[in-house]
Amino acid sequence: MKTALVTGAAGGIGFAVCEILLKNGMAVVGMDIAPEMPRALPGEFTYYRGDLSKSESRKGFVELALEKYKRIDILVNVAGVAPKVRNDLLSMSEESFDFVMNINTKGTLFLTQEVANAMIKNDGSEKGSIVNISSMSGYTSSTNRGEYCISKAGVSMITALFADRLAEYGITVNEVRPGIIATAMTEKVKEKYDNLIENGLLPIKRWGTPSDIAKAVYALASGALPYVTGQSIDVDGGFHIRRL
Ligand SMILES: NC(=O)c1ccc[n+]([C@@H]2O[C@H](COP(=O)([O-])OP(=O)(O)OC[C@H]3O[C@@H](n4cnc5c(N)ncnc54)[C@H](O)[C@@H]3O)[C@@H](O)[C@H]2O)c1
Repeated sequence: MKTALVTGAAGGIGFAVCEILLKNGMAVVGMDIAPEMPRALPGEFTYYRGDLSKSESRKGFVELALEKYKRIDILVNVAGVAPKVRNDLLSMSEESFDFVMNINTKGTLFLTQEVANAMIKNDGSEKGSIVNISSMSGYTSSTNRGEYCISKAGVSMITALFADRLAEYGITVNEVRPGIIATAMTEKVKEKYDNLIENGLLPIKRWGTPSDIAKAVYALASGALPYVTGQSIDVDGGFHIRRL
């Protein structure tokens, strides 16, 4: 049985990722800052409550998984936050920048480092796979949440760096770039996106779902694509296509 670690497990996308991995017979250890999971999950699931931005939480999470299952095969970095308040780039605060970067980028970076060091020690030639959830915001400017855009561009570089560094150990590192996905994160801006989608922003005229993202994560994490690394899949209804 493969063991998968998933951050942001209590959120929209993280929960769907846990579900698909469990359905496919994996053991999942999910981490989130939330007190508990929103609903029960079928299968071999363990919950760890922790703050991705804190070193002791990251270490505790990895230790729990290793104690219970002896090895980690898959890491899916899902946890992420938007700024608490959308603020223009010309008045963005350092506090908001640190809050977003510490979770989305620094937390993801150092958890990946911790897990990579554990995966390297795995027996066998298939040592593991890592999938990062970045965002279309990693290459799309939104001047009222610049810190989020910067944090997600950073996640894309984390993908490239670890893909390069870990290739020699047989560990693949890839990325899924979600577009507009219906979760708690986008609830507050639902009307804005409803209108944009209605008016033709996306070639595929609908919101994305957490399950759309989870399917792409599964394809990359399952070992089905062993010669693919440092790759990014846009799961965005075609948002990234330049159109005239
Ligand atoms: N929803 C979208 O449209 C969209 C688009 C692009 C990218 N994303 C990315 O997808 C990921 C998941 O977002 P979602 O849409 O499911 O939102 P969500 O808010 O439902 O889930 C995010 C989860 O991360 C958890 N979290 C926040 N801070 C944490 C911390 N310090 N430590 C541990 N867990 C923490 C939250 O408690 C929450 O459960 C995020 O990285 C987000 O940036 C989402």
